[in-house]
Amino acid sequence: MSTLITNIGELTTCTDVGTLHDAAVMIENERISWMGAAEDALSAGGAEVVDAAGRAVIPGFVDSHSHLVFAGDRAAEFEARMAGQKYAAGGIRSTVAATRAAPDEELRSRLHGFVDEMHAQGTTTVEIKSGYGLTVADEQRLVRLAAEVTPEVTFLGAHVVPAEYADRSDEYVDLVTGPMLDACAPYARWIDVFCETGAFTVDQSRRVLEAGIARGLSPRVHASQLGPGGGVRLAVELGAASVDHGTYLTDDDVAALAGSHTVLTLLPGVEFSTRQPYPDARRLIDAGITVALACDTNPGSSFTSSMPFCIAIAVRDMGMTPTEALWAATAGGARALRRDDIGVIAPGARADLVLLEAPTQVHLAYRPGVPLITRVWKDGEVRS
Ligand code: NIG
Ligand code: FE
Repeated sequence: MSTLITNIGELTTCTDVGTLHDAAVMIENERISWMGAAEDALSAGGAEVVDAAGRAVIPGFVDSHSHLVFAGDRAAEFEARMAGQKYAAGGIRSTVAATRAAPDEELRSRLHGFVDEMHAQGTTTVEIKSGYGLTVADEQRLVRLAAEVTPEVTFLGAHVVPAEYADRSDEYVDLVTGPMLDACAPYARWIDVFCETGAFTVDQSRRVLEAGIARGLSPRVHASQLGPGGGVRLAVELGAASVDHGTYLTDDDVAALAGSHTVLTLLPGVEFSTRQPYPDARRLIDAGITVALACDTNPGSSFTSSMPFCIAIAVRDMGMTPTEALWAATAGGARALRRDDIGVIAPGARADLVLLEAPTQVHLAYRPGVPLITRVWKDGEVRS
């Protein structure tokens, strides 16, 4: 099956090739086979021809951080926060209770609903974490369900210490690094930990990540969301693909990240929804850090699944240019997942593309809240 998208007014490749105008892209099966000037497009043969009519085409978004397998809702917590209450990690436990009580079918149908919602907003790859089960059986259930919809599954048994282990956090870490990891590792590619006051210490986080690495999982870390701490430096030391949040970075964190291969994934939906300060992405990029953007879709700290919304915040409030923000939401997300086949428009890459109802990608930030995602291809097939 092949498709020729032609008359593309602006084609942002998110590669060194940069931006092409009056361009065309050929899709063959699930890959991009060619791109170039529209006038050079080979005669389409049996290909379906899509006339972009001067509109912009971008790579599908790569959302490298989400928590989509859960039950319940925390709208009341959000409402209280907007009236002045602070966000605290303990809220996670209420979602744990609702998730444990939910049958597989309910979790599955909500999960599929979120993935469809993301496709409709231009996201073609999503990483999904466990972390709302926190028993061996429930965590395994969550990674198993996540693996039905994405290869990018993360075991996050160390999300928070569950109520039944209150004051016995080291024993809970024994469970996570022992039987829980054994049960979940076959379904996961990544191991993650919430390294933060109120969740897990640096030493506990190290134990979790090292146990996962020993089982063949690759590390990624939640750190510096609620205050400064040692999580960023631990992530760099262990060669994590990404460290996520980074709301409260120290100068040492910035220096460590700048000299590393660890991506810093910023999550503007969290600062939006918890009324915390946005990180200064300009300073971080200028320091030499590779920055990605992700939604962190979850019922507590960030219940948006919209990459265009996160891009708009990053441009408006975090000092990123529209081009940097789009790169961070596509190629940057791919780097955070150590993938080179997604997040870019290039011959050989997966045919994950978005046609915008706009002449340029700048409109993603320029027209916040407007549904500009008009067609989405994933693996060469129209998804939305
Ligand atoms: O990435 N930081 C920890 N985990 C989630 C929040 C989860 C929740 O509040 O339910 C996050 O922000
Ligand atoms: Fe998260």
